[in-house]
Amino acid sequence: MAERPPYRLAHTVAPKHYQLEIEPDLPNSRFKGRAVIEVEVRERLQEMVLNAVDLTLEHVSIKDAGGQELIGTVSYNTEEEQVDIAWPGELAPGMWELTIEYQGVLGSDMRGFYRTAVEGKDGSTVLIAATQCEQTDARRVFPGWDEPEFKASFSIALVVEPHEAAFSNARELSNVLDERGKRRVTFARTIPMSTYLVALVVGPYETTEPVMVGEVPVRIAARPGFSHLTDFAETAAVDTLKYFQQYFGISYPGDKLDHVAIPEFAAGAMENLGCVTYREELLLIDPEKSSPIERSNVAEVIAHETAHMWFGDLVTMRWWNGIWLNEAFATFMELLAVDALHPEWDPWTIFSHGRSMAMAVDSLESTRPVEFPVNRPVEAWAMFDLLTYQKGGSVLRMLEQFLGPETFRKSIVHYLQRNRYANTETSDLWDALESTSHQPVRSMMESWVLQPGYPLVQAKLSADGQRVTLTQKQFRYGKPGDGAWQVPITVGIGLADGGEKTVRGILGDTPMDVPMPDNMAWVIVNRGGWGFYRTAYDEKLAHRLSDALPKMTAIERYQLLDDVWAAVQAGDAPLPRAVQLWRGMTEERDPDVWGAVTPNLTLLESIADDGERMILAKLARDMAGPLFAQLGWNPKPGEDVRVARVRGALLRLLGTLGADDAVREEAGKRWRGFLGGTEQLAPELLTPVVNVVAHGGTAEDWDTMYAEYKNAKTPQDEQRYLFGLAGFTDPDLIRRTLDLYLSTELRLQNGPIALGRLLGNRHASAMTWEAIEAHWSELQERFPVRAFEYFAMPVAFFVDEELAARARAWFESHPIEVIERAVAQALEFQKVNAALAHRLRGRLAEMLG
Ligand code: BES
Ligand code: ZN
Repeated sequence: MAERPPYRLAHTVAPKHYQLEIEPDLPNSRFKGRAVIEVEVRERLQEMVLNAVDLTLEHVSIKDAGGQELIGTVSYNTEEEQVDIAWPGELAPGMWELTIEYQGVLGSDMRGFYRTAVEGKDGSTVLIAATQCEQTDARRVFPGWDEPEFKASFSIALVVEPHEAAFSNARELSNVLDERGKRRVTFARTIPMSTYLVALVVGPYETTEPVMVGEVPVRIAARPGFSHLTDFAETAAVDTLKYFQQYFGISYPGDKLDHVAIPEFAAGAMENLGCVTYREELLLIDPEKSSPIERSNVAEVIAHETAHMWFGDLVTMRWWNGIWLNEAFATFMELLAVDALHPEWDPWTIFSHGRSMAMAVDSLESTRPVEFPVNRPVEAWAMFDLLTYQKGGSVLRMLEQFLGPETFRKSIVHYLQRNRYANTETSDLWDALESTSHQPVRSMMESWVLQPGYPLVQAKLSADGQRVTLTQKQFRYGKPGDGAWQVPITVGIGLADGGEKTVRGILGDTPMDVPMPDNMAWVIVNRGGWGFYRTAYDEKLAHRLSDALPKMTAIERYQLLDDVWAAVQAGDAPLPRAVQLWRGMTEERDPDVWGAVTPNLTLLESIADDGERMILAKLARDMAGPLFAQLGWNPKPGEDVRVARVRGALLRLLGTLGADDAVREEAGKRWRGFLGGTEQLAPELLTPVVNVVAHGGTAEDWDTMYAEYKNAKTPQDEQRYLFGLAGFTDPDLIRRTLDLYLSTELRLQNGPIALGRLLGNRHASAMTWEAIEAHWSELQERFPVRAFEYFAMPVAFFVDEELAARARAWFESHPIEVIERAVAQALEFQKVNAALAHRLRGRLAEMLG
């Protein structure tokens, strides 16, 4: 092995069990801790290095089985987030008990053990303390071996105020008032697990009655005033736990499962074993008053974190380079579970957006492979991105479909069984998959996971019509790449009599010939749409696609539109090729397929001049008007949720970019009627109506929306109206939104997202960007550095050259290491869009015609 770098811990001593007792003092934002750690000393040593950050170690001692005790001397290595404990004599190999008494602070920075103060429904302040340890912030909670490979069991006790509830990873063993009037809650011993999964939550929580799934009690916890919003999550949590127990055939690894909502939360949710934590809007929901997308989001997040109980908690990556083993699997499993439980939502089609965003990043030179070296732990932050989650999830879906769902399931069960309670590398996964499936999984998957980018598969019909030849080249927006993949191909061949034939194979370096029957009517490459690649058809095959359209699934239609648009962005296809497809969408009833196109129209809108913008609006009305007229404003009883969603998508397009006066007027009327209590408005239409109202909104509309934000009764409504304020177009109102978004009135977790939304509004981008520059250091003090990514992504869509240059120069002179790659990707993508704008300027009218 290479020499151990200073930020990694030696394996000469390793923890086996942690006994932690922690007493938070919420009003004073600090905590006291005592860690008794059973460690195995593997070679004689006189010094130990472990991790700790912002902890004051007050007393450190160690004793062996014989009771011999040594007192340690501590020195801090702040740079490496370590403490060095020197012992007065040598420690012999064997088991020792290390005891550390320490003090820590409860920050407000949403990492480690942190505190949040929120205003309760009755106006009082609610104090909550919670942990967020992934990736390397467990070292802010207790001193220890904070690397995923050092698995140990935990016995945790929390000492809290009598009125406070306490949660941790395992079941409560005892709960007693001590002589000081404090409540001491002790929890059972966990399985051996990584430190990043430790959870502590303390606050005035209300918890649902446990629902038993076999031996496992499942509960949902919310702060006061929110417990009426837990039913949906409870059902979803129970259903997914049952689903995964069945799918894996391996018992859930914890002894209970709590899902706890935290009012301020840096990520979306976190898979702490037995004690999953969430931001409120991803757990607490009113199923009657929320949209199908909001409901499916909650169900997906719950499924995602529940899947981690096996992928991540039971079997864990050895180091952060393997984080895709956690996150890609959880993403894939989340979709599998929700698809099984709620096929009506069609989660795989919804996921088309995720896959398409991953493909967009993966078309850049600044992309990276799914698995990527991570040295310092801080580098791991940049791994939680579209490539890990969405590309990773997509290539797993591709593999599942290639092997067949049952072979795939058996193989990963084998992998989990073989590695339970242990740590793995990606290569362990290939071993397990190959030994069960007897397929060359490793070589195929390494081409997708270890190599950046993805292919464009080109399909060409031979002159005699006897065969279609498939070849691949790397898809890039800019400079060509020379990657090659083992591409699992499924070709659908439509026959003149209405039948269909399917041909499967693996396309490698050499062309693949697919024989065509005489009565071939059309060809769909990537049948099913699960291949992570794009397709370019030659003219003859492209021409026949119109006959194939009625046979295509929504995922395939999405992919077709996305492939053509990507070709336009890359300069490989003229815009009219996309416009022609768009014009054919008048009967399109899938909301996600509309979602493939609306961002492209929005980009064109920001490129267009005033005259061209009117032509673009007319195009949008031609596309969306007829179906919207047919569907009408009011949901039909028993209607498919996807039809309900498409109504919202059309209405939004017509009322904003489409400049449809009738729709705008009706939206305003219904919105006011809804607020006044005289009009019903279906939940799935609320966000679209809010967008339309904001788009042409007046100061009065702003005030109303702001009041709705302040008085929101559910976390989803709070988000809806807060982010709705980002959609105003009047400069004075944009200024008001901007001032609000810059203020500390917002929850910390929402600030960067809100500013990012405003940056994405073309009417607001310049003003918002200037404000971000002006407040840069203040924002840096307030927000986690990672959140600055929200300020980078929208820059990709700045087509105003002056503004783009300004943002570019700013990022160059104000680099932030953690988001370096995200910034490079946004800036590279901006150049792609700027080049598109350059090609289209002054020619849009003619091209849209
Ligand atoms: N393990 C992550 C949470 C996380 C992300 C911790 C980044 C530290 C850094 C969790 O399982 C997760 O993936 N959460 C997602 C939501 C999920 C449904 C995609 C998130 O937080 O965005
Ligand atoms: Zn995850």
